[in-house]
Amino acid sequence: MAQVKLRVDDRELAVPAGTTVLEAALGNGIYVPHLCHHPDLKPTGMCRVCIVDIGGSLVPSCRTLVTEGMIVKTGGAMVEKVRRLVVELLIVNDHQDCLSCGKNASCQLQEVTRYVGADQQRVQRFKAQEHRPVDDSHPFIRRDANKCIMCGICVRTCDEVTCIEAIDYAFRGYAQRISTLGDKPLQESKCTACGECVVRCPVGALLPRQGTPPSYSVKTVCTYCGCGCGIHLGLRDGKIVGVTGDRDSVVNKGELCVKGRYGFSFVNHPDRLTTPLIKRNGQFEPASWDEALHLVASKFQEVQARHGPDSLGGLSSARVTNEDNYLFQKLLRSLGSNSIDHCARL
Ligand code: FES
Repeated sequence: MAQVKLRVDDRELAVPAGTTVLEAALGNGIYVPHLCHHPDLKPTGMCRVCIVDIGGSLVPSCRTLVTEGMIVKTGGAMVEKVRRLVVELLIVNDHQDCLSCGKNASCQLQEVTRYVGADQQRVQRFKAQEHRPVDDSHPFIRRDANKCIMCGICVRTCDEVTCIEAIDYAFRGYAQRISTLGDKPLQESKCTACGECVVRCPVGALLPRQGTPPSYSVKTVCTYCGCGCGIHLGLRDGKIVGVTGDRDSVVNKGELCVKGRYGFSFVNHPDRLTTPLIKRNGQFEPASWDEALHLVASKFQEVQARHGPDSLGGLSSARVTNEDNYLFQKLLRSLGSNSIDHCARL
């Protein structure tokens, strides 16, 4: 692809044609504060935090494509003054109860405010007094409109990434907020609870209800279906407390469905079977794996002896690996049966 040369502050850069100024800067280690930009989504220029000076004009860098010989200033008195004002206008509508927020220390608005600075007195003077109701209807997602900065990342995610369109902008002026069709609670909307909007929300407006932070993570593969989505299990004290998609996985590129992202409580559930059970005198009793496997093998032999090898059949699973499925068909064929099927066909 053709390269375009430009100057950003005191650096000469060469980037592929079609790159935005923001991408060119970030990709070369030059920080430009931004809030509504997300690499997975089309730029909309909603927040105006990413403004830069190009030829004396202030333009949103996320919406401006690089051109040959372009000279970009990411700072300067004018840029800093306007950027600070933009951030202050966002903060006056924000709750600012950071210590009790689940996004504290990973909030992009905090990061941007730290970088840009804000006149706290001015912010307090114009602070919004209205408290909007928190949508706690959903079993997995908590929606707090008081923390929303209207960047639209959730709306674009639901539209461009998942194509569900469960949420959109609603109402006008100061009353504008992100809402569902008919302003219903999220649980009653057509949201499929994939959580893609939650992982992209730059602030605490969308948070998972289960908010225990993990102390370490393990890269693995989701076992819910045969897709094989790459995941990172977040663990704390040896228990799963969260799941994030693996952006390096060629299968899902970081995206997950509701089961993969939120359906992990079964792993450590007290009702989960952790040992084989054998029915004796009408009651299930815990048994060792050796006992259980010997019982199954003896029953196979009984059935084979009485009705022939074709009387045995096997139903395998999409939740196991290809290698396990291969071994399973091998086992059935070694017992003389070709009756093998797979739950993914059901
Ligand atoms: Fe460019 Fe929001 S990041 S306008």
